[in-house]
Formats: sequence, C-alpha cells, structure tokens
Amino acid sequence: MSKPRFSSTIAVTGGAGFIGSNLLTYLVDHHHDRQFVNLDTLTYAGNLANLKSIEDRPNYRFVKLDIADSGAVEAAFDRFQFDGIIHLAAETHVDRSILGPHPFIRTNVAGTLTLLEAVRQSGRRIRFHHVSTDEVFGSLGPTGLFREDSPYRPSSPYAASKASADHLVRAYHQTFGLDCVITNCSNNFGPYQFPEKLVPLTIRNAVAGETIPVYGDGLQVRDWLYVADHCRALDLVFREGVTGSTYLIGADNEVTNREIIQRVCRELDRRLGGGPREKLMRTVADRPGHDRRYAMDSAKIRQELGWAPSVSFDDAIAATVDWYLTHADWLDACVTGEYRKYYELNYSNRQQAL
Ligand code: NAD
Ligand code: TYD
Repeated sequence: MSKPRFSSTIAVTGGAGFIGSNLLTYLVDHHHDRQFVNLDTLTYAGNLANLKSIEDRPNYRFVKLDIADSGAVEAAFDRFQFDGIIHLAAETHVDRSILGPHPFIRTNVAGTLTLLEAVRQSGRRIRFHHVSTDEVFGSLGPTGLFREDSPYRPSSPYAASKASADHLVRAYHQTFGLDCVITNCSNNFGPYQFPEKLVPLTIRNAVAGETIPVYGDGLQVRDWLYVADHCRALDLVFREGVTGSTYLIGADNEVTNREIIQRVCRELDRRLGGGPREKLMRTVADRPGHDRRYAMDSAKIRQELGWAPSVSFDDAIAATVDWYLTHADWLDACVTGEYRKYYELNYSNRQQAL
C-alpha cells in the first residue's frame, strides 16, 4: 500500500481498550500528517464504540488482529510498512490473571515477542514503544519510590507477564539493536475504562445501589494518574524518548483504595443526591499477593522530556464521574453475560462479607 498522504504510519496495538482508545483519539487529533493503524483483536475489553469520534478520520484505520498470530502480524507489517509501534495490547486485569493466567502469557509475552520478531524480520528501523506498568516492580513499603532502575519483583501473574515482556523488549534492543523505548505507568483512571477496575466499578455499583467491594483493609496505595495525562506522556516518549530508555510515569497522587472510593461516592452524592453512597463499601477477602503500595519517581520524564500532569486529581475525579454519568449506555453495554460470570466468580471467593 502506498502512503504518499502521510509522513509516517504508526501501529497502535490494543487501541480499542481503555488507554489505547484515549491515546488514539489524542494522536489522530494532534498529528494529521501521520496515519494510525489500530491493531486489536477485540477481547471483552476492546470496544470500537470507544473510537466513534475518530472512526471516519482519514488518518485512522482499524485492523482486527491477534498480536500472537504471527501470520496476521506479518501480513499487517507487509501491508502498512509501519514506521513505529505503540504497543498497548494486553490482558490487563490482576484478578483475571489469578483466576486464569494462560491468556496473559499468550498475549502479553508471546504477543509481544511476535511483534518484536516482526520488527526484526522487517530489517527496517521501526520505533517500538512498549507500554508497561509499575506493577512489574512489586510492592513498596510505607516509604520510597519506584525508579527506572528498581529491581523487578512482580507479585501477580499479570505483573509477571508484563515483566517478562519488558525483559524481551530490552533484550531485542540489546541483542538486535531494535529502536525500543519502555514506559512504566501507575494506575490510570478516566473515560472508557472497563468496569472491572476499581474506579468505574465503584461508579457503576454506587449508581446501581450495589455493594462496593473493598479488598482487605482497603489501605493499599496507588499513584492515580488521569488517562489524558498518560496519553500526552506516551506521545512525547514515542516521539522524543531516547532509544533503549525507560521512563516512569506517575502523578504523585498517592491515595488509598478507601479514599478513592469515598471521593468517587461523594462526587456522586453531590450530583445525584441521596447517599451517602460510601456506606455501600463492604470489606471482602483480600486479593492473594496483593501489593501494598505503588509510588513513582517520574523525575526523568519530567526533566528530560518536560512532561508533567496537567489535570489536578480533584478535577480528574470530577471529570471522570461526569463522564460515566453521561455515558450510562456505554457502561451498561459492558455488563454482558461474560462480565457477570467473571464478576460472580471473582467475588464468590469473597462472598462472606458482601
Ligand atoms: P484494556 O484491558 O482496557 O485494553 C486492552 C486492549 O488490548 C483491548 O482493546 C483488547 O481487545 C486488546 N487485546 C487484548 N489481547 C489482544 C491480542 N491478543 N491481540 C490484539 N489485541 C488484544 O487495557 P488498558 O487498561 O487500556 O491498558 C493498556 C496497556 O497499558 C496495557 O499494556 C497495560 O498493561 C498498560 N497499563 C495499564 C494501566 C492501567 O491503569 N490501566 C497502567 C499501567 C500500564
Ligand atoms: P484495580 O483497579 O484492579 O487495578 P490494579 O490491580 O492494577 O492496581 O485495583 C486497584 C486497587 O483496588 C487494588 O489495590 C485492588 C483494589 N480493588 C478493590 O479493593 N476492590 C475491587 O473491587 C477492585 C476491582 C479492586
């Protein structure tokens, strides 16, 4: 396929998921000279409705593709002659990785390897940006921060699969000279997040008057980052990150699970009346291997690339609650039979308190 209209063609894997769809919308809006090809197999977490606002744009394409299928990946590389890849496709939910780890190894490890091999076999210089997580570093104690050189100590099958992918990406840079960059990011929240994750699950259950499950004592800490700020960081690292480098992305928003649930409930009470919805919180059995605290030192990306979060935590929570309230149909559509089955399975072990 010739591509005279565009200066470059970039593949975004997992572009129909939460972060991928926010990212693609940002990229398509901000880089009209570039073509973006969404490679996504559309698992339960992939939803083309997330991309409605860009589906007809001339610089956006969608290809349904499983990244672990080497034939399909090679065909896409032949067809589009990619100049770069931003790799987000993954199985992403820790609880699902505990219930069944195999898909995590297939997509996150074998799928990443398949993409790296396609880049290597192409013989062309293709920037490979691997999007990873802080969970590869395991748990912090009450103090300290993760840094780019922190040791890898993944706790869950999900984190182990992402750690494995990170190692493969580094190995392909070292051994074969691939042009790779890695970003490890903290917990994101915002529009289009599948309601198995804490923030949208809290909103959904609180609006429906259902209990909000709190794992263990609920004092686990995450460094919450608004997805729009993550997307700006990804765009920057993809374009300007130094080859072979890793960048940690965090917003210095260390908040406990209990606190974030309370914040969300209070925003809902203000808008909908009634409540207090935080009374819907129920302590349930803890997640096995549950990491206590994540926190990021993101000085490198701030100093080297000039990135900083632009939306305050309060504004981001308010905007997120508003988004879900005005997209009730989107949220309802996530609650399929498959999701109910997963939900019951995940929470049946924790039922004693629900
Ligand atoms: P998500 O679960 O919302 O979406 C994942 C997407 O990948 C879906 O569209 C799905 O269809 C697609 N996908 C899954 N398997 C695939 C396969 N075999 N082939 C092609 N596509 C496939 O995930 P997310 O929360 O948007 O996360 C995106 C990336 O960011 C992941 O790599 C994740 O590890 C990383 N990350 C997420 C967070 C977070 O808080 N959500 C934080 C740090 C890093
Ligand atoms: P989650 O959104 O699953 O993201 P991650 O496991 O990648 O951090 O969970 C965020 C935190 O919230 C984590 O400490 C587990 C906790 N949690 C609950 O307490 N209750 C829930 O129902 C869920 C889904 C998560």
